[in-house]
Amino acid sequence: MGNKVTTAIFPVAGMGTRFLPATKSVPKEIMTLVDRPLIQYAIDEARAAGITEFIFVTSRGKGALEDYFDLAPNLEEELRSKGKDALLEVLHKTNMDSGDIAYIRQHKALGLGHAVWCARRLIGDRPFAVILPDDVISAEKPCLQQMVEAYEETGGNMVAAMEVAPERTSSYGILDVEKEDGNLLHIKGMVEKPKAEESPSNLAVIGRYILSPSVLKNLDHVKKGAGGEIQLTDAIAAELDQGRKVYGYRFAGQRFDCGSKSGFLQATVSYGLARPELRDDLAAYLKDIVPGLG
Ligand code: UTP
Repeated sequence: MGNKVTTAIFPVAGMGTRFLPATKSVPKEIMTLVDRPLIQYAIDEARAAGITEFIFVTSRGKGALEDYFDLAPNLEEELRSKGKDALLEVLHKTNMDSGDIAYIRQHKALGLGHAVWCARRLIGDRPFAVILPDDVISAEKPCLQQMVEAYEETGGNMVAAMEVAPERTSSYGILDVEKEDGNLLHIKGMVEKPKAEESPSNLAVIGRYILSPSVLKNLDHVKKGAGGEIQLTDAIAAELDQGRKVYGYRFAGQRFDCGSKSGFLQATVSYGLARPELRDDLAAYLKDIVPGLG
């Protein structure tokens, strides 16, 4: 039912203030989980879901991100001359073909909705995915792939959904659910950052979306919402007012909020323990420093 989704927007123009002073000169998306920058996890997930066109919405000071996807001829030559083929292979996996990736500037950080709107001319009249790289999701089948498979049946708009503690609703877009059908939630409303007592549920939207191009038209008219920002949630909620469908998808997997220090540290431990060459050392260290563990 839904058209094939081949384009993804990666909004990376935020200021990353929670990681200051690091983010004064290092884009948040370049910060490393074990040995790969956050953005690499997002790109790998997108590719697994069939994405072939990558649009980055960036801002001043994000040059390191563009360099990361460029060729590194000097480094490659050095590795080749030393016969370090395994490392060369690691490097090659980060390359993007010319033309597969586009960069757009968001001149002012006016909010996630505004960042997505900045890509409107490149999207045109096709459905598209949005991936927030600071939400890292560990899953057997990558989260966006799960959603793309579900979307092929439903069409409409789809957002990744997960339960959060009731006192945390004010940090998320929250879903008002009409009915549940397995992993699929039929949505009748969405609110950005409601207080616990006003929240329609504790099902939060996290950083994976498949959206219809009409959401971009809605963004033409969306006014500043929660936190004084132009909210993507408001433009998706407008789809419902216009009689179009929005689905929540309860994905299988564990999500880490790498936009927060605590989430980033948890992801570091989890991804570290998942690596065979690091597991034993790291587990022994954790047992040593945390009394009662293991
Ligand atoms: P966050 O709410 O995490 O904001 O944005 P932030 O600026 O990245 O980080 P803090 O809160 O100051 O620490 C969620 C996602 O939306 C993007 C961010 O880059 C991030 O991927 N974003 C946010 C934009 O691209 N533009 C904006 O105006 C706001």
